[in-house]
Order: sequence, then structure tokens, then C-alpha cells
Amino acid sequence: MTAAPSAPVRWDPDTYGRFEAERDRAALDLLVRLPDDLDPRAIWDLGCGDGHHASLLKRRYPRAEVHGLEQSADMLAGAGARDDTVRWHQGDIAAWAPERPVDLIFANAALQWVDDHEGLFPRLADQLAPRGVLAVQMPMAFETRHHTLMRDVATEGPWAGVLRDVPTIAPLLSAETYYDRLAGTCADIDLWSTTYLHALTGEAAVLQWMSGTALRPYLTALAGSPELRRGYLDALGEALSRAFPKRPDGVTLLPFPRLFLLARAR
Ligand SMILES: C[S@@+](CC[C@H](N)C(=O)[O-])C[C@H]1O[C@@H](n2cnc3c(N)ncnc32)[C@H](O)[C@@H]1O
Repeated sequence: MTAAPSAPVRWDPDTYGRFEAERDRAALDLLVRLPDDLDPRAIWDLGCGDGHHASLLKRRYPRAEVHGLEQSADMLAGAGARDDTVRWHQGDIAAWAPERPVDLIFANAALQWVDDHEGLFPRLADQLAPRGVLAVQMPMAFETRHHTLMRDVATEGPWAGVLRDVPTIAPLLSAETYYDRLAGTCADIDLWSTTYLHALTGEAAVLQWMSGTALRPYLTALAGSPELRRGYLDALGEALSRAFPKRPDGVTLLPFPRLFLLARAR
């Protein structure tokens, strides 16, 4: 949930893909909860990134027309190369208006980047065909230690002026509010949260993890100021290494809470 930044956030599929196994885990946990009787004709993966999950959905539902919607041309470039049986679209979830009702809307780790969830979730539900499914996973990252450090360090150095007005990920609504916003049009609403304890490897692992996602708005804002960028990342890296020490076997444990939501149109 961010207001539109002045410059579009630059995504980097290579940096994002560095922890593919850990990032995939939640998406797969969401996929296995899709109802057994779902036989979709039209599927949209919103904020599809490099297209990995849209491609998986096409394999699972070969009769369906599968679409991937993604704002970042950099992320979408990999998607097109990955699978030509999926229809790829560059666009904004906030403005998404499919031509036909959709049987499955899938959004993994994407909607937290979109503003106004009070309005967004009912709008998404309105796009569902009867008995269509909305399947969403979102990091509950705002209150985590690593996000707090990211924001705190952003205010504490010569980079503070550049970063002050850069919108970052905002808190999610409460689980109860998502339920209430969907209950008018959907049934079988299933909400749960899980905290993963990601076992990250490599140097400055949490900083590397954040460089693929949460830090993108800050990295975009600092792209024209290499010294400020280096200073901010060094300071944040030190703070993160203290908060998340590397263990003797080289693993850095990162607790990461996530909210899952499945809802079925009446
Ligand atoms: C953390 S990545 C997740 C990508 C993919 N769903 C996955 O699970 O691997 C978030 C993606 O959402 C995209 N995104 C963010 N805001 C968006 C918007 N308003 N419209 C479309 N895509 C958006 C980003 O460009 C990025 O590729």
C-alpha cells in the first residue's frame, strides 16, 4: 500500500530471484489451498513478477486462459521468455479491468504494493465470475524488525532528505477488515497467517533479501546518488547484521509473517 512514487519503482528480477526457494514457499502454500472443484476458464495473476506462478497455473489448469499482469517491464521481460502459453500484460493492478469475469484471481506478494485496500479488495471481488476464487498472499512486513530498521536508518544520515517522502510498504488492514470488505460478495472466506523462519545463506543475507523487494523504492530514489546509496546500504547492513546475526553454520534466520486469504464469489 503505497502512494504512487514520483519515479516508477525499478525492479530487478535477478536480485528478486536470489531467494527464489524461500519466496516461492508461501505462493505454493497458497496454491495448494485452491478448492478442488475449481475448473477455471479465465485466470489472472496480478503482479506476476517473472511469471513463474502464472506459468505454474497454466500447467495446473491447461484449459484455462491464463493472464499475467505486471507493472515492471524489467520483471515482465523474463515472463515473456518463460512461457508463451500465458498472455502477459504490462499494467497497473489499481487500474485493472478485465473484459470478462475471472474464475481465479491470484496475487502473491503483490497487493501490498497497491494503495487503498478498503476499495481494492471489493473491486477485485467484483471481477470474479460466480464461484470464482480470489487467492492472495501478502507479507505482514510493516511491523517486522527488518522493516522498522529500514525506515529508521532512512531517517538517520545524509540520505534522509532524499528518502523522506519516498513511500514504502504501509501496514496491511486487519484480517477482520479484509473479511468484512469481502463478505458482501464472497463466501467461504478463509484467512490465516503464518510466520516463516526463512533460513537465508550468504553475506548480508537480510540486506540482500530486502534489496529484492522492500528496498526497491529507496534504491530507485537513490539511483542517481551512488555515495548516498552506498552509505545508506552500509548503515542498514550493519544494523541488520546486529539484529539478525549469522549463525555458526552460515545461516541467517529471518522471521517473516504473511497473511493468506481465499474467498469465493457467491
Ligand atoms: C514481490 S514481487 C512478487 C512477484 C510475484 N507475484 C511472485 O510471487 O514472485 C511484487 C511484484 O508486484 C509488482 N507490482 C507492484 N505494484 C504493482 C501494480 N500496481 N501493478 C502491477 N504490478 C505491480 C512489482 O512490479 C513486482 O514484480
